[in-house]
Amino acid sequence: MNKAVVGLQWGDEGKGKVIDYLSQDTDVIVRFQGGNNAGHTVVVKDEKFVFHLIPSGILRKHKICVIGTGVVIDPKVLIEEIQYLKKKGVDVSPRNLKISSLSHVIMPYHRVMDSFRESKRIQKIGTTKRGIGPCYVDKISRCGIRVADLLDTKKFSFKLKDNLQEKNPLFKEVYGREYFSFKKIFEEYRHYSKLLRPYCCDVADFLYSKRKKRFLFEGAQGTFLDVDYGTYPFVTSSSTVCANALLGSGAPFIRIDKIIGISKAYTTRVGEGPFPTESVGTLGEYLRTTGKEFGATTNRARRCGWLDLVLLKRAVLLNNVTEIVLTKLDVLNALDKIKVCTEYSRNTKDNDFFPYDLERIKPIYRMMHGWETQVSEARSYRMLPVNARKYISFIEKYVGKKISMVSVGEKREAIIKKGV
Ligand code: GDP
Ligand code: IMO
Ligand code: MG
Repeated sequence: MNKAVVGLQWGDEGKGKVIDYLSQDTDVIVRFQGGNNAGHTVVVKDEKFVFHLIPSGILRKHKICVIGTGVVIDPKVLIEEIQYLKKKGVDVSPRNLKISSLSHVIMPYHRVMDSFRESKRIQKIGTTKRGIGPCYVDKISRCGIRVADLLDTKKFSFKLKDNLQEKNPLFKEVYGREYFSFKKIFEEYRHYSKLLRPYCCDVADFLYSKRKKRFLFEGAQGTFLDVDYGTYPFVTSSSTVCANALLGSGAPFIRIDKIIGISKAYTTRVGEGPFPTESVGTLGEYLRTTGKEFGATTNRARRCGWLDLVLLKRAVLLNNVTEIVLTKLDVLNALDKIKVCTEYSRNTKDNDFFPYDLERIKPIYRMMHGWETQVSEARSYRMLPVNARKYISFIEKYVGKKISMVSVGEKREAIIKKGV
């Protein structure tokens, strides 16, 4: 049984926690896109782990974690993450962590470009400024540097020189920035390559050798940050939908049996872009405080609002989701009324397409009763208050998919398998 986990909203749905849980019944966990714009949290007892590049299954013993070809890697961040985990006593070694030699490498000029574009352009995206977009741009425009290039001194030297020769005058002319020093970057990255070499492999060959094992594909970001199907241009630069899992991981020979979509019981978003159910008032503040809605990567306050079922249903379709995990149900505990968006009101003059940029639409809500009780201690579906169960059933009926698990707290054990 192979599974994929994808975010059904704008990221931060609680994928890390669910991956950690599902890793128990898995052998190989693979990240397939994005980079260290992601921040996936797992809380074990009182200890919090945040993963940016390493798959969230690394805490489970005897698992293999793979950073697939579609991921863009900032080597400094990856090395720091390995060291951070080792310091916490987590076993991370070339035995249980593999890196695709074909992944593209985030260079200093990518990070600088990301920040410059954000500060100079009128239309800001609110990126994480980790260099993700510019690195994917170079990949597609065929001047990127891959992990394999980094490991080959001659090739790396040539490619870096070639890039700097083109980019340095551009940075100076357009942004008034001093030239990047070849020597400095070369030496810094040669150092990284020595540290990362033992982890690198041809993932296609490696994953093929494991094809009889149980796979879990770990998506980063969320459906509406997808570069094609998200709220463009307020998206990330990779395909976040499940269809990219096999391509991005380098394992096209694996069949995915279950596609598990993760959704919060409400909605959040970080950065710019449309968000129809956003609440900038008291409710937004309540959700942010109660749900500790501050970014795991940038620590920015997340924008918060009600659950948008129109979007959730679309995300189910775009990912071919087979089941849903609903997270952070406990955050709604204190509310006496809960609203869910079930429809958009639209200008009749607009076309019939899905309003993909979410402009000129107004959410229409259905009001539901809250449960006004703690659910954090519930460990079986029957222990949930009736109104919480009604809320869950309503979502299931609306989107036409089962909610197989409900998360009721940040800790590892605060999860309910439905039917139990
Ligand atoms: P990811 O990017 O999808 O992995 O999600 P993040 O880790 O960025 O954000 C989810 C946050 O919610 C983290 O701080 C988690 O520890 C926390 N979390 C996950 N599930 C629950 C839950 O059911 N209840 C509460 N209160 N917190 C949760
Ligand atoms: P996880 O995997 C939430 C958002 C940024 C910005 C937009 C583009 O933790 O769910 P980028 O740096 O990717 O070019 O920024 O995407 N973004 C995320 N929001 N969770 C994430 O990852 C995100 N990764 C990127 O805030 O709006
Ligand atoms: Mg996150």
